[in-house]
Amino acid sequence: MNLTDGTARKLEVRGLSFAYEGRPVLENLSLYAGQGEFVSLLGPSGCGKSTILKLLTGILKPDSGEILVDSCRISEISGHFAYMPQNDLLFPWKTILDNVCLYGEIHGTSEKTRKEALANFPLFGLGGYENSYPSALSGGMRQRAAFLRTALCQADILLLDEPFGALDVITRSEMQDWLLAMREKLNRTVLLVTHDMDEAIYLSDRILILNPWPSGIVDEISINEKKRSRDWLYRQNDLRRHIFSKISGSAGRKENTQ
Ligand SMILES: Nc1ncnc2c1ncn2[C@@H]1O[C@H](COP(=O)(O)OP(=O)(O)OP(=O)(O)O)[C@@H](O)[C@H]1O
Ligand SMILES: [Mg+2]
Repeated sequence: MNLTDGTARKLEVRGLSFAYEGRPVLENLSLYAGQGEFVSLLGPSGCGKSTILKLLTGILKPDSGEILVDSCRISEISGHFAYMPQNDLLFPWKTILDNVCLYGEIHGTSEKTRKEALANFPLFGLGGYENSYPSALSGGMRQRAAFLRTALCQADILLLDEPFGALDVITRSEMQDWLLAMREKLNRTVLLVTHDMDEAIYLSDRILILNPWPSGIVDEISINEKKRSRDWLYRQNDLRRHIFSKISGSAGRKENTQ
């Protein structure tokens, strides 16, 4: 299936529902991401964003609905997704290089992954830290290491769960600038989970706004700006206001239904 502009649909989710022990979290959720598209899932805490990513990876099984990659249905853990969980999950007893090469080790491609990792350390701002341990790195560096590990996966869709959520506001801004610059180089389809409105506006081709559970998409915003900068971001008050009204509007609906 194709998007209206002719771009192929890399990922498609149709009518996904999921409950934790009988408590519905997602209800009839549908979304898609085009080939190479950067899509953000923006919604309040607890609305089910991480659950969506876990369903895509196959860690959780949906109660109903389908997940398609390149128009083929996925029902098990597949090699299509590289998943960066909400916390960096670096092993403290492994060096940064060993941490970064973990998936290569698991998939029996250690040598190739190590070569590629070493070549990418400077690009990820980690040059010189190959043999350091995670405790010697700042929070931002650890997140970049976790990101490099995800990017080294040969998967074509990156699932990033609040990759900068735990960082202070200045480091987070630096990481967002860095990811914006990396977007072209990565050349992958990306699904970014965030509850940071500015992060979503700054980085995304399209933002999907989720309402609280049972989660659904209340709005979808396309952002076509090619030349993004912090100055451009600071001027996006109308967009910010619109997104806020959608999020707070859906929060109100949640309260009314309880
Ligand atoms: N393992 C679990 N067992 C039962 N309930 C769970 C489990 N994991 C998550 N939940 C519940 O499901 C809902 C959605 O959780 P999820 O982690 O997907 O939210 P989120 O949108 O990622 O939140 P945050 O922005 O805080 O990370 C929450 O109400 C949460 O309490
Ligand atoms: Mg989460």
